[in-house]
Amino acid sequence: MYEDANPRVYGPRRGNPTMRRNAMADAQAIRSPAQHTQELGLDQYRIQQEPYYRSVADEVELYEAAYSVRMPMMLKGPTGCGKTRFVEYMAWRLGKPLITVACNEDMTASDLVGRFLLDANGTRWQDGPLAVAARHGAICYLDEVVEARQDTTVVIHPLTDARRVLPLEKKGEIIEAHPDFQVVISYNPGYQSLMKDLKQSTKQRFGALDFDYPEHDIEAEIVAHESGVNLEAAKNLVHIGERARNLKGHGLDEGLSTRMLIYAGSLIASGIDPRAACRVALVRPITDDPDMRDALDSAVTTYF
Ligand SMILES: Nc1ncnc2c1ncn2[C@@H]1O[C@H](COP(=O)(O)OP(=O)(O)OP(=O)(O)O)[C@@H](O)[C@H]1O
Ligand SMILES: [Mg+2]
Repeated sequence: MYEDANPRVYGPRRGNPTMRRNAMADAQAIRSPAQHTQELGLDQYRIQQEPYYRSVADEVELYEAAYSVRMPMMLKGPTGCGKTRFVEYMAWRLGKPLITVACNEDMTASDLVGRFLLDANGTRWQDGPLAVAARHGAICYLDEVVEARQDTTVVIHPLTDARRVLPLEKKGEIIEAHPDFQVVISYNPGYQSLMKDLKQSTKQRFGALDFDYPEHDIEAEIVAHESGVNLEAAKNLVHIGERARNLKGHGLDEGLSTRMLIYAGSLIASGIDPRAACRVALVRPITDDPDMRDALDSAVTTYF
């Protein structure tokens, strides 16, 4: 199974102030993106090994064309359908470092752009992940961007239009984006509400690629590859996934993702009875409703 080659994902500060202080101490112990960059350059954000990515249509060529003109890109699609894997693969293919930020409603503009920190020698500026990416030429992937507040999201505006600059207002500096820099955001069209959606002025700065669960044979190939289960069992898992996806909107809020099918496949490959594996990895996580569980359990017994 492919291990995520770039596990460094930056989240915002959360929780109560004490937890926050501890989290900040932890974050400092792990070292910030800026410190890492000074010490190691952007090499730590380079994906060394080719990530396994099975293309499903012309998304690879379209993304390459978009990157060649440095068009900011939005990857749209339900949870667990391959958006993160795709951006890792494209960063590897283009030979560019990838800096991922997990967005959240507590995230502030300073979490992205940077802030002054106090240390023994006084204050010093520390670039946030967006500033690191813009300065040194990485692909900056803002995961689940609708989770961020709109006043935070607007800091990407000057970087995602013809200006390609990032003003660091507190520092009095304007970063001119490195030629290799690109912003990519992910967006799950099912999740936003009136309160939580991207502004039109944000959306209209991006090109968009639609992602969805792949067609049957391709999804089975992915499940088999990623979980180590044989192709026949992978196909059965995909059948169960398709049955569940048909129940979306009829009692299920979300369809079963490719990620869940891979979990079930991994359990089966490790020797767990397929019905038990499907119960644990597919049915129980997705619904608490007894009738829905029965319906899904019976789909499982049809195939295993
Ligand atoms: N086309 C694909 N090629 C290879 N692996 C894939 C593909 N699609 C999905 N996968 C597998 O499915 C898993 C889940 O995909 P991924 O994490 O990229 O989903 P996501 O769309 O980013 O979900 P989320 O919105 O929850 O972050 C991946 O770890 C990978 O194993
Ligand atoms: Mg993802």
